[in-house]
Amino acid sequence: MIDVEAFIKEATAEIRQEVGDANAIIALSGGVDSSVAAALAYRAIGDQLTPVYVDTGLMRKGETEQIRETFSYMDSLRIVEAQDRFVGALEGVTDPEEKRHVIGEQFIREFEREARDTDADYLVQGTIYPDRIESEGNIKSHHNVGGLPDAVDFEGIVEPVRERYKDEVREVARELGLESVVSERMPFPGPGLAVRIVGEVTAEKLEVARDATHVVEDEVAKHDPWQAFAAVLGKATGVKGDNRVHGWVVAVRSVESRDGMTARAQELPWETLQRIQSRITGTNDNVSRVVYDVTHKPPATIEYE
Ligand code: XMP
Repeated sequence: MIDVEAFIKEATAEIRQEVGDANAIIALSGGVDSSVAAALAYRAIGDQLTPVYVDTGLMRKGETEQIRETFSYMDSLRIVEAQDRFVGALEGVTDPEEKRHVIGEQFIREFEREARDTDADYLVQGTIYPDRIESEGNIKSHHNVGGLPDAVDFEGIVEPVRERYKDEVREVARELGLESVVSERMPFPGPGLAVRIVGEVTAEKLEVARDATHVVEDEVAKHDPWQAFAAVLGKATGVKGDNRVHGWVVAVRSVESRDGMTARAQELPWETLQRIQSRITGTNDNVSRVVYDVTHKPPATIEYE
């Protein structure tokens, strides 16, 4: 474990030295990594930092409001309403990596505009150690590692938590006084709910994934998972009243992990699983069944795409 106080001191001093009098920008995702990087950078350089949050429309329930609240102390915070542009760009896209690519490109377009607008010379990123390892190993393209630095000609990239693991970042978050909804927040992928929808992203599937993920997070929180969520897989037959219906199949996933590189499916109590099932099918008439994913990583990945 690290000496958190010493780390915060060193990290802020380094940021101050690197950025000097210039302007910097950071993409806030709502997750603990970028939140800690932003809080450290804001401590170091104040309003020379512009934190930008892009609402992709692929976020969880209440996420944008949460960000607005948590970072309201940063006067320079910008919230970009880009929901329609992201969902529009994803129309007809079914291949998983193509989806990531479309989202990454759109994100860069949104961010590039903000970076030019703020005259930012430096890019601050919340990249943590496992992100770098998975990207170097080419296991999956994570758009929070590549892309952004190439899009705008930054003078430098500042990654204050690049050597840290997630549990260490959480400790730093607590020490920085970030609320527990941030410091204990489950990891959430950059491409958001799009990688929890198998196949094309549509407004209807997004609504199912968003509502169901909210139920799962709520029910499973006390079991302290690394990540718990719902994914929309496809359609299957069910019965509603006297009729057969063709509704969505929702998969529930809850895993334990230290760094996301490997993971174990969590053994949840039957009552919890049944409550999740009943809340999900009760909230959304278009869901015909709920299944529990018992696969570890490997062989599965944590997300569905
Ligand atoms: P997988 O699904 O590869 O996920 O087992 C490992 C961890 O990484 C997160 N993840 C992503 N994060 N961009 C991100 O920023 C991505 O494209 C991405 N894909 C997966 C995932 O939520 C898990 O914590």
